[in-house]
Amino acid sequence: MKAIDRLIVALDVSTASEAIKIIDALEDTVKYYKVGMQLYNSVGPKMAEELLTRGKKVFIDLKFHDIPNTASQAGAVFTRMGVTMFNVHVAGGYKMMKATVDTAAEVAISSGIERPKIIGVTVLTSLSQEEFNNEIGFNGKIIEKVRAWSSQAQEAGLDGVVASAQELPIIRQACGPDFIVVTPGIRPAWAASNDQQRIVTPKEAMQLGASQIVVGRPIYGSSDPKEAARKILAEMEEGLC
Ligand code: C5P
Repeated sequence: MKAIDRLIVALDVSTASEAIKIIDALEDTVKYYKVGMQLYNSVGPKMAEELLTRGKKVFIDLKFHDIPNTASQAGAVFTRMGVTMFNVHVAGGYKMMKATVDTAAEVAISSGIERPKIIGVTVLTSLSQEEFNNEIGFNGKIIEKVRAWSSQAQEAGLDGVVASAQELPIIRQACGPDFIVVTPGIRPAWAASNDQQRIVTPKEAMQLGASQIVVGRPIYGSSDPKEAARKILAEMEEGLC
């Protein structure tokens, strides 16, 4: 897979016009976009539909965490829409994950379309070890939970997980080379780190085995988004060699 298929640009803005401005500026440099809670909850499905009409790939990052029927029916909506990927919380349980995959597969077959990739959110990377143990109430190390939940996601039929670069080696070891691992927290050496803590460069992410990277502010916050995306793609290519 080439770098262009591995770069997902996060459209973390609140209006359709801001999103369109970014997409227009990037032209054909970027093929894949992430629509998350900020944009989706502001403008609804229209931005995902607009991207699909323009021939772009769409990752819907709404992190479903609900009972099996609700999560799977939400997944059915996005399957019908034709999105490329969406995600669920692994903490929603095996039954929820399996129901979501099975329903999406049935809808895809009956609509004659491809099933979206469905990936799991394991332990949010914003949580510290202390919060994980004392507030969320789990024992043990976060990394062990990430490994166990990644395996469970795979058993339930999910195609992959979202994970920090730090977690990549252990997930690859547990789930193999074909499991999708989407990695945020990416910063080229020339970009500001913003609020991201454990950052890696685009090249390092590729070398560590990320299937795809999610990049937001270093691209849409740049004075020349297209040039920023080009530089990131070139760094990714270096890591893929
Ligand atoms: O602007 P930046 O490149 O930091 O954006 C990263 C994107 O990845 C944001 O949309 C953020 O919500 C998402 N993300 C993250 N860390 C996670 C999961 C998702 O930064 N653990």
